[in-house]
Amino acid sequence: MKIMMIASECVPYAKTGGLADVVGALPIALRALGHEVVVVMPKYGSINTAKYQIAPFLNQMCVWMGNAEEWCAVRTTTMDGIPVYFIEADKYFARPGLYHDDAFNDYGDNPRRFAFLTRAALQLARDTGFDADIVHAHDWQTALAAAYLKVWHWNDPTIGKAASVLTIHNVGYQGKYGAEHYDYIGLQWGNFTPDKLEDHGSVNFLKGGIQYADLVTTVSPTYADETRTPEYAHGMAPYLNDRGDNYIGILNGVDYTQWNPATDKLIPARYSAADLSGKAVCKLELQKRFLLDTDPDIPIVGVVSRFADQKGLDLLASSIEAIVNTMKVQFIILGSGDKGLEGFYGGLPARYGGRIGSYIGYDNALAHWIEAGSDFFIMPSRYEPCGLNQIYSLKYGTLPIVRNTGGLADTVEQYDEATGTGTGFKFWEPSAHAVYYAVGWVVSTYYDRRPHIVKMIQKAMAQDFSWKESARAYLAAYERAIANRG
Ligand code: ADP
Ligand code: GLC
Repeated sequence: MKIMMIASECVPYAKTGGLADVVGALPIALRALGHEVVVVMPKYGSINTAKYQIAPFLNQMCVWMGNAEEWCAVRTTTMDGIPVYFIEADKYFARPGLYHDDAFNDYGDNPRRFAFLTRAALQLARDTGFDADIVHAHDWQTALAAAYLKVWHWNDPTIGKAASVLTIHNVGYQGKYGAEHYDYIGLQWGNFTPDKLEDHGSVNFLKGGIQYADLVTTVSPTYADETRTPEYAHGMAPYLNDRGDNYIGILNGVDYTQWNPATDKLIPARYSAADLSGKAVCKLELQKRFLLDTDPDIPIVGVVSRFADQKGLDLLASSIEAIVNTMKVQFIILGSGDKGLEGFYGGLPARYGGRIGSYIGYDNALAHWIEAGSDFFIMPSRYEPCGLNQIYSLKYGTLPIVRNTGGLADTVEQYDEATGTGTGFKFWEPSAHAVYYAVGWVVSTYYDRRPHIVKMIQKAMAQDFSWKESARAYLAAYERAIANRG
């Protein structure tokens, strides 16, 4: 099968979240199963062309938008044998941020930037004769690929037969913008209707993708169920329900070449389930690095996260002081985003010296340290389409503490106090109280039922969420999309 993936992020070139991890790994897993995949993404200002040997490919490519003729260049490199194409249009992408400036203000021309990226990717397929069987779009940024294929390219000799798959990584981000952008987007005013692209007078990219794609997927079975309900769907429930069984959940895999304590070069010492001594070294180094009391017997709870409403870190913020005042436990927090939470978590080490460490920012190597050196990893998410960190945590023998939602529900097995089975700790209510009691339960288990913790670590580290199985599920989804297209 020939597959073109179009996305706004891809590891190792540009990343703000798990989307990039998925786009960087799924193509490689598909290729390993014998399929031909190319990836198309923007050439952001932050991408180092020398480091990744990104070479010129096309000096000029013309892209027709609804009311404008745009020109760009295309660069290319290979990622484990996968051709990756970078759309180079400096007026849109030569900026430090992917979606917003330093103050977290969205770029005002985001609808144009990502409509352009999407059209440019399809143009590239035509110009290079890449007769894709599948065009796979990710999130609102490239969701319009499905619409362009049906509205513009339905009889194109190269991509006219391509079926489209849209993967929703987060229904909370939809790309909803003023109708003044619609002429540029160029999907014909006849389609600016509530059953297609219009949303209360605005244009909604994700909604358009949901309506036009031959198959819609999301990143865990539980999130697929949740997003059929108004509580979780941010207004998309009617449209997702309309898709019936053409809306499915496929659990993400993770890339164990990057996230495996036995081979991880970014952590202070390597370890395995058979020999955990390296994990103790990682814990000690983590305590030293964050100026925590260097005591191997105090449990550390780690956080690595975007500070966004979705992640529920305000719930931890409201309970963490009560927790450290009443329990013998340490916290290490790495994250950035919401300015209020950055200020709060950034200020905790000064007030709780030796007990809480934090770093406000984005640091991949530090994320690995925290996964390796912590005993537990907390994700109090209000919603979590899949979540990758808890899956990394399992592999690092760092037991996840999660709210039972989305992919967290699908990947963590609840601890059973009677038998000591399970791989982590789940709570249900999205409240500071529930976080407090969950951590209390974890801490008491750590001190009073240590054999259970030992047993859970063994079970957690044996879990396998590698991409192979997920890639097979995507292939089955592609087959269905092709049948639907027919
Ligand atoms: P989301 O995509 O919603 O942010 P995921 O759990 O799917 O959540 O993926 C988050 C990814 O981003 C993980 O690979 C995690 O390690 C990484 N990450 C998030 N915040 C940071 C940070 N501040 N520093 C380093 N890595 C981070
Ligand atoms: C989104 C979701 C996250 C998921 C990631 C990759 O960013 O918030 O839960 O793991 O996409 O699919």
